[in-house]
Amino acid sequence: NCLLLLFHVFFLQPEKDVNGDTLWVWCYPSVGSELRQVLLSKCCLTQDSRNFHTFVFGQFCRTWYYITTAEVQEPTALNKVTHFSIAVTAKDFNPEKYAAFSRILCRMYIKHGSPVKMMEAYITVLTKGICQSDENGSFLIKDHDVRKAYLAGSIKDVVSQFGMETIILYTALMLKKRIVVHHPRIEALLEFTRVLPALTWHRKDWSILHPYVHLTDAELEDLKKCPGYIAGFVDPDVSNRSDLFDVFVNLSDSVITVSQSAKEAMAMGKLHKEIGQLIVQSAEDPESSDSQVIKDISVKTKEILANLVALANECEDSKITLEGLKQHHFPPATENFLFHLAAAEQLLRI
Ligand SMILES: *[C@@H]1O[C@H](CO)[C@@H](O)[C@H](O)[C@H]1NC(C)=O
Ligand SMILES: *[C@@H]1O[C@H](CO)[C@@H](O)[C@H](O)[C@H]1NC(C)=O
Ligand SMILES: *[C@@H]1O[C@H](CO)[C@@H](O)[C@H](O)[C@H]1NC(C)=O
Repeated sequence: NCLLLLFHVFFLQPEKDVNGDTLWVWCYPSVGSELRQVLLSKCCLTQDSRNFHTFVFGQFCRTWYYITTAEVQEPTALNKVTHFSIAVTAKDFNPEKYAAFSRILCRMYIKHGSPVKMMEAYITVLTKGICQSDENGSFLIKDHDVRKAYLAGSIKDVVSQFGMETIILYTALMLKKRIVVHHPRIEALLEFTRVLPALTWHRKDWSILHPYVHLTDAELEDLKKCPGYIAGFVDPDVSNRSDLFDVFVNLSDSVITVSQSAKEAMAMGKLHKEIGQLIVQSAEDPESSDSQVIKDISVKTKEILANLVALANECEDSKITLEGLKQHHFPPATENFLFHLAAAEQLLRI
């Protein structure tokens, strides 16, 4: 039954033909008009540019979509078609898995020119967890553990770009704030944003990731349902939308800005400095792998959370109050951080 959930899949193939028209070809099973609209806006075939993105992914209404676009080069069964995209939707976050699967589907489509073979492949994956590729080995679900997907990005790259400022991202994530990231290139957004949930590894929650969002009503409404998120935008106008973020990351210029309304909750003190230094030291150690850095951060996080739980346990119904915190005479920024963290971790009495 796990498999079924995993592969709640359908295919969409807008095709671009030699006349430059985009054609909607095939879709299984049916897809709601709102999701269809979103997929069409992400699929680069509907854009004018000659700039094709081979693979993009994102999330809409708790459905992940993975879109692979292929260029048809030599004459094949697909006459007149110059490009096509396959969109696979699923409930799980696993870009590498769906990219590998989609590559096989693309090859089948180019070779046979009909969705029937793809459909068969989909069924075998669904029932057997395996799919034989025409040329090149097979695709096995079990090769694509979700943990691998969580660890696929590079935290060391993030820290090497932002240095001590990484602590702002860490704090924002710990406090379940809203992070908006802008970069004009979607590939850069996908690579960067997927790493960030690893800063709060104890939650293993990638559902907060919305790597590719357009400034449309449907998508923003969906985004606003999440109390805290990481959202990526290629549209620079997002910098004007202060209603959408607590922290704004200008990724191409490596600038992080905390919005006025979040400044108080995110005030930095000694504890932040200590965590920031730990992150930088761990990431700069040439001996440490990315997963080691994530582990180092996670150990520190768990220590902070264990302290917080111990504080909560001293209180009535194991919930922290501001009065209770004040009795410990923490430095003001630490007290403030623990207070907001207790709220984020549901350890606060309200
Ligand atoms: C076949 O697999 C190899 C190794 O995994 C890879 O480098 C190559 O690109 C694949 N060929 C095709 C046509 O996908
Ligand atoms: C990013 O920063 C650069 C340099 O400060 C600025 O020119 C650009 O407008 C910024 N982009 C956004 C989306 O804010
Ligand atoms: C933001 O808003 C201002 C004023 O409405 C506008 O001139 C500008 O083009 C918008 N976009 C960016 C990226 O600043």
